[in-house]
Amino acid sequence: MNPVKVGVIGLGTVGGGTVNVLKRNANEIARRAGREIHVVKASARDLSRERICTTEGIELVSDPFEIVTDPEISIVVELIGGDSIARDLVIKAIENGKHVVTANKALIALHGNEIFPLASQKGVMVAFEAAVAGGIPIIKVLREGLSGNQVEWLAGIINGTGNFILTEMRDKGRGFADVLAEAQALGYAEADPTFDIEGIDAAHKLTILASIAFGIPLQFEKVYTEGITGITSEDMIYAEELGYRIKHLGIARKNHSGIQLRVHPTLIPERRLIANVDGAKNAVLVYGDAVGPTLYYGAGAGAEPTASAVVADIVDVVRTLTSDPGNRVPHLAFQPDALQETPICAMDDVETAYYLRLTAADKPGVLADITRILADRGISIEALIQKEPLSDKPDLPVIMLTHRVQERKMSQAIEAIEALDTVSGSVHRIRMETLG
Ligand code: HSE
Repeated sequence: MNPVKVGVIGLGTVGGGTVNVLKRNANEIARRAGREIHVVKASARDLSRERICTTEGIELVSDPFEIVTDPEISIVVELIGGDSIARDLVIKAIENGKHVVTANKALIALHGNEIFPLASQKGVMVAFEAAVAGGIPIIKVLREGLSGNQVEWLAGIINGTGNFILTEMRDKGRGFADVLAEAQALGYAEADPTFDIEGIDAAHKLTILASIAFGIPLQFEKVYTEGITGITSEDMIYAEELGYRIKHLGIARKNHSGIQLRVHPTLIPERRLIANVDGAKNAVLVYGDAVGPTLYYGAGAGAEPTASAVVADIVDVVRTLTSDPGNRVPHLAFQPDALQETPICAMDDVETAYYLRLTAADKPGVLADITRILADRGISIEALIQKEPLSDKPDLPVIMLTHRVQERKMSQAIEAIEALDTVSGSVHRIRMETLG
């Protein structure tokens, strides 16, 4: 059979890695796909730039629209990121009857509800394994491997940059900015690194995971999103003293009132495997009613780990080129007409346990006032530590772990504690999950 012709948009970290993997493993890949796969054209903003891949035999162009309109090309691989030009390119590619493979989580999370129906109408595939958790095949797991289950919840470390920063701060006491700069140099961070540290990248990925886990439309705007910029090394030390680690998690959980979608730093017991996922690695813990808990671990970012997922998608597309479009795995795991508008829970209604850190005056009755505020709202304390003053200041850091309570009640309690004359500054809250 003739080779399948592929056009790659973007020859940066992931694009370069993809070309390298396709070349290096060409033989094995062709044996798996049933056809040779040739990258015939690639676009890059700056054609003179030095690259991590060889471009021998590839026609280089600076206008990506030359790829999506090229009649020779069957599969367009979009690796430029962002959600504006990428959206136009992908729509144009679909309109021209091309299959699309993308690593673009923002594109899928924000425009998937528009892109997938169009692709189905045109009978083409849009594959996005690389959009979530880099090289971990978590999309395939949820769409295919666990399709006999009702997914009850999932929780994932789904931003490598954030996990790298938290790990380096904890293990080496390094500063936030310094570690972020290293993550950028290593090619882990987004073009706009605030997407990593403010949780937006993780929220894009959680949007996708939740949609295929629960059969709901993509709803990025409903994800509660909090980043890692408020985490201090003291928090990490106190958490460890209490037997916990702080991880930045994306959590999706189905309960009687709807689906929780939340991204925030989380204390988790250090004995959990996922608590020990360090550096730029990602991990996703999925709880299915039949299988129980399952954990998927691996590189969440970087050239070849992400290329691994991109190439797997290309192989999947090639394998199904001749199949009836109606018999393919649905884009969002559930048949398009079976997606449900399950309500998404407001963060105020979410129930979880909490770690609280505050600074209180070293006077009789201060702790009693604080614990009374909590008790009045039915909030039970699991552990409390009062530390020595950090310097010659009279105030003491106080750390508390609470039992589970509704977020709304905890916010009211925090407001009341912050209003005490004996408490200075704000109360720092980190949510806690046992993930049992
Ligand atoms: N910036 C992302 C991360 C890249 O750090 O996880 C992979 O999506």
